[in-house]
Amino acid sequence: MFKNKALIGLFVCFALVMSACGSKAAAPAEPSKTTGDKPAAAQPAKETKLDQIKKAGKIVVGTSADYPPYEFHKEVNKKDEIVGFDIEIAKALAKDLGVTLEMKDMKFDGLLAALDAGNVDFVISGMTPTEERKKSVDFTKIYYTAVQTVVVRAEDKDKYKSVDDLKGKKVGAQKGATQEQIVKEQMPNSELKALGKISDLMLELKNKKVDALVVEQPVASAYLSKNKDLVITDVKLKTEDSGSAIALKKGAPELVDAMNKTLDKLMADKSIEKFVAEANDQVE
Ligand code: ARG
Repeated sequence: MFKNKALIGLFVCFALVMSACGSKAAAPAEPSKTTGDKPAAAQPAKETKLDQIKKAGKIVVGTSADYPPYEFHKEVNKKDEIVGFDIEIAKALAKDLGVTLEMKDMKFDGLLAALDAGNVDFVISGMTPTEERKKSVDFTKIYYTAVQTVVVRAEDKDKYKSVDDLKGKKVGAQKGATQEQIVKEQMPNSELKALGKISDLMLELKNKKVDALVVEQPVASAYLSKNKDLVITDVKLKTEDSGSAIALKKGAPELVDAMNKTLDKLMADKSIEKFVAEANDQVE
């Protein structure tokens, strides 16, 4: 008898311990309010943006393809394609991540909103990592640097030697771009005309709707090669902010690191220089 009771007692004890164990194992699902323990510490590592992209097998890039040689439309084998050195960089990034690349073309001033809304995973668009932008997005390292120029109609070239000569004139710049800021800050006596697309700005200049444009040098040269009626002036601008970097939504440090690694490699083996030269060849 005594032996049996002892056995039952033992069994009950065992069952209690087990159920206690069970409830303990289930506990992390419900954050414990009594102990103040941080439940996050007990959970498996959260899936990062990098993990999600690898799992999806694709990455979406946002760009404003009005910016040769960075990104522009070109007919390749009778098909419209987006090409340029930024695009080659984007392809290399996707390749290193082991995923396919999907491209979304939009106006430059809509890119960061698209990033924020999650419509694109990253932005490559000759974008300068300004302090202002860094408040809302993260940037990789700078992979390319250009200078700013002032473009005018060829017949007006001699009229414009310094920013003072642009006093009272209409100066165009891309909406949402640093060039808009340059006009506001360095040409306070000029009238700014901001448009969404560089191609439209070039037309405005040709049609005498504006007198000058502020454009990054490689882009100015690319447009000028096709528009002999336009020229780059000798006007010198202050251009502290003119590097290009990739923008990503905040909170994905692993993705920024992975992209920086690819950029390091592309800069070290001179691939970027090669991409720029090839893109310039494609401009004609
Ligand atoms: N670097 C300038 C900026 O960050 C202009 C870039 C414009 N890029 C373009 N694809 N349209 O504001």
